[in-house]
Amino acid sequence: MSRSVVCASDPSLPLSSPHAAANAPTKALEINGLYKVYSGGLKALQGINMEVLDGGFRALLGPNGAGKSTTIGIMTSLVRKSAGRVRIYGIDIDHEHSRAKSLIGVAPQEINFSQFETSWEIVGNQAGFYGLPRDRARRNAERCLRAVGLWERRRVRSRKLSGGMKRRLLIARAMVHEPRMLILDEPTAGVDVELRRSLWELLRRVNAQGITILLTTHNLEEAENLCSHATIIDQGRIIEDTSMKQLLARRQMEIFILDLQHPLEHPPRLPDFQSELLDPHTLRVSVKRSRGVNPLFEVLSERGIRVSSMRNQANRLEELFLSLLGGNHQHADVPQHAGAPPTPAA
Ligand SMILES: Nc1ncnc2c1ncn2[C@@H]1O[C@H](COP(=O)(O)OP(=O)(O)OP(=O)(O)O)[C@@H](O)[C@H]1O
Ligand SMILES: [Mg+2]
Repeated sequence: MSRSVVCASDPSLPLSSPHAAANAPTKALEINGLYKVYSGGLKALQGINMEVLDGGFRALLGPNGAGKSTTIGIMTSLVRKSAGRVRIYGIDIDHEHSRAKSLIGVAPQEINFSQFETSWEIVGNQAGFYGLPRDRARRNAERCLRAVGLWERRRVRSRKLSGGMKRRLLIARAMVHEPRMLILDEPTAGVDVELRRSLWELLRRVNAQGITILLTTHNLEEAENLCSHATIIDQGRIIEDTSMKQLLARRQMEIFILDLQHPLEHPPRLPDFQSELLDPHTLRVSVKRSRGVNPLFEVLSERGIRVSSMRNQANRLEELFLSLLGGNHQHADVPQHAGAPPTPAA
């Protein structure tokens, strides 16, 4: 089987064409004052507001238990909201539930298809469920299964697929009825590195066709690579909502790991830089972004320290993400119990 989920010869994906651009940008998703209190009193969402523009690619990020899947569950009617309003392409999910639902394709976090059906049945039946005529359903099912690299396994019962293959099947199923927006809850969790890169290409291509994407992921490299905007949620509240560019521009310091050509016995004195010798061959240095790395290299060469390679300590977004959650973050297992019923926004 091909290791690539996207090949140049793929037929175009069965996704609906976006509308011609109007003057004001169309809102694909609008969430206002969304609250969720689970039975037992756990406050999973405490007044969420967010929007995604048509054609956007937005990351919904946050630690375990932050409320991401609850938000998605409400959008897709799997979870009943306690208060608030959700509109999909202007359609209120409370008023025109089926119409709103037909505009979105969802790959949920939990595998929720029958383990006894084949990939072909799962994807084909979904197309039928949304009322696509038989020929179109079959055509779409083939395109989607090819796009995620499962075409050759289409006759295999889903329980015999690997974990990563099941995730890809969820994505194929989400796309088959030609939705205008894809909602992907950790779509690449458990997918191997090579196929993950391939899925990224697929998602980029889908988004380039004008399809809006809302993606949750714990892989911040994935979010940084794919998404133009990010919403960060923590303990049921939005703590950041901005473009990826603006978010990354907020970083003050950059931390580099330098591999040294010759071992050092003692930590070098580098005025104006915080540094730490991790081992005789490895130096960690914090650099103010406003200064850049040239002054660092000047100081290093003055001291005769030669660098063989250099890398960022962590993913750029990861550093920022941790600092944003900072002290505000409790252990993920500590639930937010409601002492009183929710006090939803008016
Ligand atoms: N059916 C449920 N009944 C009661 N509490 C729930 C239920 N589903 C989720 N929760 C709780 O709601 C909170 C938010 O959960 P949610 O699944 O939305 O988090 P998440 O951001 O998707 O986390 P993860 O990154 O782990 O997937 C958590 O405290 C969770 O335990
Ligand atoms: Mg989740």
